[in-house]
Amino acid sequence: MKILDLTFKRKVNCSASVCLWNHWDHDHINYTHEGIYDNSQIYYEDDRSILFFHSIKVPFLPFIKVNTIDLTVLKDKNTVCTYGFQFGIPSLTTAKYIDIGKDKCSVEVNYKFKFSGIKILLYPVIKYLVPKWNNQTWEEDLPLKMRRQKVKRLGFKDFKGLPEKTKDRKFQGDIEFKLPITRLKKNDNKLTKHPFYNLGKKGNYI
Ligand SMILES: [Fe+2]
Repeated sequence: MKILDLTFKRKVNCSASVCLWNHWDHDHINYTHEGIYDNSQIYYEDDRSILFFHSIKVPFLPFIKVNTIDLTVLKDKNTVCTYGFQFGIPSLTTAKYIDIGKDKCSVEVNYKFKFSGIKILLYPVIKYLVPKWNNQTWEEDLPLKMRRQKVKRLGFKDFKGLPEKTKDRKFQGDIEFKLPITRLKKNDNKLTKHPFYNLGKKGNYI
């Protein structure tokens, strides 16, 4: 048995709530990260968890797809955990977003993969791929976070827009992150629901 343990630390000029919103904005993955995510299907979700099937493209080899079942949970108000099974290898991704000043936060993402048996041979492949995936998603997400931070400070409200009067376009309070966040309408939504989606549960989000 062998564990791969990789941590990436960064600082970014937006609040932790904006990073959390971006992490939990599942709609964007098929647009912003269309070079990575090929197919995403939701099996179950509630106010703080989501069970996904993802088909992910391998960097530089997009014709190779990695299928994974991912369970993402909001562990506490700063931490998002994802349990996955890339190549059938169990993984745990832990993202921590901590405010370190006004409109500034630290982002720490830790990846753990547990290799056993013949799959230990994939250790160097995963070790090579994880920084590529991490860097690509970070770069692709950054403009979204910057834009949201900017418009939230102008008083932007989701699916409502900016205040009508220019003089009202300022907001200095705390930027909130509350689940569930509003999703795109079904017609614009590339996320699909499995026939088992939230089976027996009322109040589906989509
Ligand atoms: Fe993203």
